This record gives sequence, C-alpha cells and structure tokens, in this order.
Amino acid sequence: MSKFWSPFVKDLVPYVPGEQPKLTKLVKLNTNENPYGPSPKALAAMQTELNDNLRLYPDPNGDVLKQAVARYYGVQGNQVFLGNGSDEVLAHIFHGLLQHDQPLLFPDISYSFYPVYCGLYGIKFDAVPLDEQFQINPADYAKPNGGIIFPNPNAPTGCLLALEAVEQILKASPDSVVVVDEAYIDFGGETAITLVDRYPNLLVTQTLSKSRSLAGLRVGLAVGHPDLIEALERIKNSFNSYPLDRLAIVGAAAAFDDREYFDKTCQLVIDSRENVIGQLQAKGFEVLPSAANFIFARHPKHDAAGLAAKLREQGVIVRHFKQERIAQFLRISIGTPEQNQALIDGLSDL
Ligand SMILES: Cc1ncc(COP(=O)(O)O)c(C=O)c1O
Repeated sequence: MSKFWSPFVKDLVPYVPGEQPKLTKLVKLNTNENPYGPSPKALAAMQTELNDNLRLYPDPNGDVLKQAVARYYGVQGNQVFLGNGSDEVLAHIFHGLLQHDQPLLFPDISYSFYPVYCGLYGIKFDAVPLDEQFQINPADYAKPNGGIIFPNPNAPTGCLLALEAVEQILKASPDSVVVVDEAYIDFGGETAITLVDRYPNLLVTQTLSKSRSLAGLRVGLAVGHPDLIEALERIKNSFNSYPLDRLAIVGAAAAFDDREYFDKTCQLVIDSRENVIGQLQAKGFEVLPSAANFIFARHPKHDAAGLAAKLREQGVIVRHFKQERIAQFLRISIGTPEQNQALIDGLSDL
C-alpha cells in the first residue's frame, strides 16, 4: 500500500494463477494446459509471419481470425469478439455487460476469476450453490438477476451441463445476458454457439489455451448477437486497440483451420482422461464425471493437501483449492500417457 495508489486498489483481491514452475523436470498437471502442443500448421503460420512486418501494428480487428472462427462455427464476423486470452474477453464482458442493479449469478464452485472481476468493476454477485453432486441445477438460476455466468463444463469440477439445461437457463432470464464460458467444451461437450441466433441474450466464450494448445499465445473469443459484440468492441477500443499481435492472429486462425490435428489431439486427451479416471478409481478415489481436460477427485482416506504435497515431492504438481466445500479435492490436468503414469506412480503408496 502506498499513498500513490488510487484508493480502490487497496481493496482488490487479485486472482492467484496456478504455479508456473521454473524447474522443467516437473510433471505439470496443475493448470490444464494441453500436453500435445499446437498444430504444426499454426506454428508454420507464425514462423512465416515472423518478419519485418512486425514493425507495423497488427489489424486492430483481427479480421483474419474473426473470419476463421466465423467459418468454423457458421456465424457472421460481426458475431465474433477477440481478446488477449479469454480472461481479457471475460473482463470486458463483466465490465460492459454484467454491471447492473440486480446481482450477477454464478455457481459457488466455479472459475475463481469471476469474483475477482466483480471486485474490480464493483459488481454485486450471488454465488448459487452447486447441488450435492456438484452439479449446476438450472432451476436455481430462475430468479431476479443482473446476468448469469458459468463455465461449461464447469471448472474446477469438470462436470457438463447438457445443452437443453443451458437453454432452460436462457429461457428463464430473457432480459439478462447469460454467458457460457466454454474454455473446456471441446473435450466432450456440445457448444452453445449453435443457439446464438435464437437467443440474443446468449454470449459464449472460448479460448485457444486448452483444446488448441496455445496457452502461451493468449487468444480468447466470444460469440453472440452483434449488439452484445458491439458493447465489447466499445470497451476494447476504450482500453487497448491491439490486444492480439500479428503472430497471435495468424497462428490462431491456422489452428482453427487445422481440424484434423484438433480432432486427433482432443481425442487423445479424452482417451487418456478415461484411463486416468479408471486408475484413480481403482485406488479408491471418487472422481466427478468429467467432460474437460482435467479431473476433480477426492480420496475418502487421504487429505487432499497432504496428497498434493506428497505428489510434489515426487515431481508431480496438481492443483489444490483451499475453498471449504472442495478442500478435499484435487484438480488434476490430463497429460501425456507418460505424465499420467508419473501421477499414478506418485500415488503408489495408497
Ligand atoms: C473456466 C475458465 N475460463 C477461462 C479461462 C481463461 O483462459 P485463457 O485466459 O487462457 O483463455 C480459464 C483458464 O484456466 C478457465 O478455467
């Protein structure tokens, strides 16, 4: 705290990202990255772009990427918004679309950046408890609200909400923006982007950090009605006109165009997930059903913090949250078969 700070800064409670260790030998299963790396076509596109043109500013609208996303999902370019990671897209959404008199609704167990954005932008919120099985119950969101946001699949649980249930939430709140954060949708869910033409209050966000393995490039997007997108463009153009650099625009576009590599690597992650779930269950873990590239598991006889510490001693890092309701769970990202084996070996004493 310093006298130079704007007064509100002292009350901020910033997000704490998962550890990015400097030691490269660690088996890193803590931040839901994709172990297979980006599409070779995306890397080639970025290498071609690595030239003297970097002295010039990029296209502020990232049109090449907007068109690639629009083609992929069968929507129009003016239904697509781009940002520096979906975290930035979410920040603009909170700022430009979710600041109302009624409270914003999101699950009590959810992406822990949501309450942080509420703090940053002064948004009231109401955390809606997940049910006993850690599932979102759509009926719980049918109450007065200034907006609704939830990840689908949810994080850190990995649990998927069926598209009909998403529609139920949309129908019950036609006068609020409903944001579906689909960071993990490609590992087993059905995107709600197919609903945007029918629901002008629906905004879907996605990221290239997970299924397209480009967490280091920082690209995220939102798809929705052009009126919602226009609000986001107004915020973006009042904040940073060039959130995506030249490499990000061409690399992300090439990643969207390379469906073959995308399908292959998503399937590898899904197959490994099912294998890891089976092995953990055999060791007595309870594992929540996952449609993501991570699993959420607890052991009835072993403390989660202790397990995480023990795994770390053996060079495997997983994520443990201190939040009361989930303090006995570990969130474990799916790695390569070798990394997953290191996890199972690290638990061999159980
Ligand atoms: C639910 C959810 N939404 C959004 C993000 C942000 O992803 P990024 O900023 O890398 O696009 C994450 C990252 O882990 C996430 O778990």
